[in-house]
Amino acid sequence: MNIGREQSERNAKIPEAVLLAHTAVLGKTGSGKTSTAKLAIEQLAIETQLAGFRVCILDPIKSDWWGITSSADGRQPGLPFKILGGPHGHVPLHSSAGKIIGTLVGQGKLPLSIVDMADFEAGGLQRFFVDFAQALWKNMRGVVYLVIEEAHEFAPKERVGFGSENLAIHWAKKLATGARTKGIRLIVATHRIQSLHNAVLGSCETLIAHRILSPADQEPVIKWLRANVADKELRAEVEGSLAKLPTGTGWVCSGEAQIFKRMAFARIATYDNTATPTQDSGPARITTAPVDVGELRELIGEAAAEAEGSDPIALKARIGDLERALAAQAPGERNWSQDELDELGDLARAEGYAEGRNEVTARIVGLTTRIAAITQGVAANMAQIECELREAIKAPPEIDRPLYPAQIEQRQAPIAPAPMRRAPTGGAAKPNGGLPKGQQAILDALAWWGVGGHSSASLAQTAFVAGYSHTSSTFDTLRSRVKSAGLIDYPDQGRMRLTDKGTRLAVAPARSPTMMEYHARVRGKLRGPMQKFFDALIGRKTLTLEQLADATGYSFTSSTFDTLRSRMKSLDLITYPERGKVRISDWLYP
Ligand SMILES: Nc1ncnc2c1ncn2[C@@H]1O[C@H](COP(=O)(O)OP(=O)(O)O)[C@@H](O)[C@H]1O
Ligand SMILES: [Mg+2]
Repeated sequence: MNIGREQSERNAKIPEAVLLAHTAVLGKTGSGKTSTAKLAIEQLAIETQLAGFRVCILDPIKSDWWGITSSADGRQPGLPFKILGGPHGHVPLHSSAGKIIGTLVGQGKLPLSIVDMADFEAGGLQRFFVDFAQALWKNMRGVVYLVIEEAHEFAPKERVGFGSENLAIHWAKKLATGARTKGIRLIVATHRIQSLHNAVLGSCETLIAHRILSPADQEPVIKWLRANVADKELRAEVEGSLAKLPTGTGWVCSGEAQIFKRMAFARIATYDNTATPTQDSGPARITTAPVDVGELRELIGEAAAEAEGSDPIALKARIGDLERALAAQAPGERNWSQDELDELGDLARAEGYAEGRNEVTARIVGLTTRIAAITQGVAANMAQIECELREAIKAPPEIDRPLYPAQIEQRQAPIAPAPMRRAPTGGAAKPNGGLPKGQQAILDALAWWGVGGHSSASLAQTAFVAGYSHTSSTFDTLRSRVKSAGLIDYPDQGRMRLTDKGTRLAVAPARSPTMMEYHARVRGKLRGPMQKFFDALIGRKTLTLEQLADATGYSFTSSTFDTLRSRMKSLDLITYPERGKVRISDWLYP
């Protein structure tokens, strides 16, 4: 065995033998995982002179890979990767494009690609990955390196999710355990080591362990060592050093290649876009490898067409079927099959694309809520996911309010969704009171606020709870209709409340809604990228624009960042308390 415990190798390359099988690159955020994976790709690029060299990078969250298309100083082109999606994408990418991209990668028609999923909607990663992996599997020829960043996102440990999440785990496992014979070589990276599915880590012949602080995250590494390394003393040395490894240094442990070394890796030769930017560092414009965008569009064109094909009419019809099926069953009697749950997940996602189709949204929300009531386990699981998401939001600079006291209470018991009941004065009127859906939604939203102790609500507060944006003309029309029917009035400028007549027709929740539910409703109306802004700002004090850019993964100087910011502003979701500073608007904390 090639052991280097005496001194760590400096400016090290990744041993070539390692790159012939699956590799896991582990370590806390900032320990050098992405750079090490880039180094591996650079080495292979040099070695092959790009002849027949194929790589696909799945970059789910942080848009960390675009820099590989430029030289270290940013002045020369780097490796000719095609970037699909994200803030630096050569073409935009939709989460429904997994199949076509998987096929192209498998067939070798897209030899060097970065799939940037930063702009996908919630659930989009898994949805993309499932289709991608399946198509790759089916079409695979030759050898391709598949780099999976934040691998725990695709293959979380033992989570009983539903829909694509389960399937993503299935496919990640399948890739990990069977892909070598298919010619797929994995390089997976994660900082959530304890959350990564065992099958994925277990299938990696090589483990590169960078700095890992928490014992829980060290544990899978230690277990792996026990299974693969006989020398106790050596194991103890690795264990003792994990928490202290400098950035860019890692233990390379490979059973198969018979390597066991501490290495300080060489710096990457391409542009390091994960380095913390400083005011005076780097050229203003980065020169990247040229890409024929027209040709690329032609290649993946079908994927774009597919994205547009989520037909709201067909969706509505199918939702109607599901609603009827649900209505025919008493709660508790029905076991939802995995297929049905998958389909519901798909519908919900498809609806995400048909933005602004509020009726569909409301019905899906209704359906999912009722299903959650039946399968409380699912609801508890969602709370868990929510919790993890919040935890994963980067570096909270200052938290000025308790993160939803109501939410903490809720966590202790599975969430029972607020059942709807008629307002006490409701009489015998039919549900919906014969009102058109939109108008009813406005009344219900005000009743929702009423139960929460607010006798009136702002236009935005009402609109978002009802499932509209308050700047939309639909909302204007609806509120003028309910106003002229005498169902609401305006006690103050910009605020709405129910009249007695309106109160009689409104349907209120039986218990007070929580802040979390409120935020979830607002968030649910936003598109994927804006949700990231929302998540970065909610529950926080003022952020600087740089912090916001950092937390959302957009470049501070990019026009995308500016556009998204101004969209948030035009929805009154954010305010600028002073130059260069941003915070969530007060109406989100009534
Ligand atoms: N081998 C190395 N030598 C010097 N600096 C490095 C090395 N590897 C990473 N870094 C620096 O460490 C920081 C974090 O690296 P990165 O690869 O993004 O970590 P991770 O993916 O683990 O979050 C970056 O600023 C990068 O420039
Ligand atoms: Mg990284």
